Amino acid sequence: MNHNRQIYRDRRAALLIQMRAQSGGGLAIVPTAPEVARNRDSLFPYRHDSYFYYVSGFPEPEAVVALVAGPDGDRHILFCREKNEEREIWDGFRYGPDAAREIFGFDETHPIAELERMLPELAADQPALYTPLGLFPAWDRKVTDLLNEVRNRIRTGVAAPEEIVDVRQPLDALRLVKDAHELTLMRRAAQISSGAHRRAMDRTRPGWHEYRVEAELAHEFLRSGAQAVAYSSIVAGGPNACVLHYRDNNRELQNGELLLVDAGCEYQSYASDITRTFPVNGKFTGPQKAVYELVLLAQLACIDAVKPGADFHDYHRVAERVLAQGFIDLGLCKGNLDEVLESGSYKQYYMHRAGHWLGMDVHDAGLYQIKGASQKLVPGMVLTVEPGAYIRPADNVPEEFWDIGVRIEDDVAVTATGCENLTAATPKSVAEVEAACRR
Ligand code: GLY
Ligand code: MN
Ligand code: MN
Repeated sequence: MNHNRQIYRDRRAALLIQMRAQSGGGLAIVPTAPEVARNRDSLFPYRHDSYFYYVSGFPEPEAVVALVAGPDGDRHILFCREKNEEREIWDGFRYGPDAAREIFGFDETHPIAELERMLPELAADQPALYTPLGLFPAWDRKVTDLLNEVRNRIRTGVAAPEEIVDVRQPLDALRLVKDAHELTLMRRAAQISSGAHRRAMDRTRPGWHEYRVEAELAHEFLRSGAQAVAYSSIVAGGPNACVLHYRDNNRELQNGELLLVDAGCEYQSYASDITRTFPVNGKFTGPQKAVYELVLLAQLACIDAVKPGADFHDYHRVAERVLAQGFIDLGLCKGNLDEVLESGSYKQYYMHRAGHWLGMDVHDAGLYQIKGASQKLVPGMVLTVEPGAYIRPADNVPEEFWDIGVRIEDDVAVTATGCENLTAATPKSVAEVEAACRR
């Protein structure tokens, strides 16, 4: 018995309400992700599509949700693989349509092999078709074939949907605001990742390779019940911290360097995304500490700017201002604050945004801007707060700052009064970080 099935039913109902409001009804078809070959007959570990999972909670490949907002009411339909003793011996358990109907709360379930036969009937006379467009090429072809098949039947008196809508548009808006169930899972994902960062701080030693730290993170994720990393862990020692999407993770860590770790687990389909930067030998040098404290000042100011009613873009502006002033104070930027902001010279050291939506996907669904205006924050939105400073060797940079790269990233949920820091258990002040790096 899946006690959460009402949650997924409610989400489908919310989509159906939206379809009626926007198009006077219609058919939504939402496929899960295909399995992807890694090489020869080996597959990448399977990860369902997040939109599909959001409306089903169903974990298997080869499945499609079909939702009908029709004149006779709503229908919640799931197509999935049939039970198959032989395949289950090799590849593991399958729910099969009968069990899936009960457990996942659908009105009807059918074998996936029935999809092509049934879809033209479901789509006939519907005013609108809601489905992802341009997400999976094989699915796009299926949708085109479906529409052609319905059009071929026009002489029999049926009409094909006139309006085609990317179903991700209404689903993005729903996914942007997390419900209590989602927040519970995200707190757990954050807690596990926080433990992994503490473990990395505790264990790392000069002479370790970055991949050994990556292994410590993975160990903590998996032993705590996370299913996977939410994205490839970035374990970036010394100059590698200034490579924003560094992934090689194969440098030997040197005494006196900083290590930037950007790593988060996926727990029951929800991502966490934490960055901490700490000294390999457990003690910040003067210049490292100066840059670290500046990024921390910016990060704390950004968190203060996350509250209901604020613009999404507000906290990025806070990051720019605090960092630009700090770069001036450290002698890294010339001019006054207005000049540095106006010219953008601070972008030599801070060139990314201050954060992004977080949820099932690490860069989660949801618009940042609507018709040119920033999205307003409301309770239930979850976002990362991740300013940084990346100082590459250059003629205009004092040598003591060369190769210092610092990012500090937390995951915060907007609440009625401000925000809840889901990753607050991760050491962050200089004193906390040095204490966590027992050497
Ligand atoms: N780890 C990816 C990001 O911070 O956006
Ligand atoms: Mn992030
Ligand atoms: Mn990150």
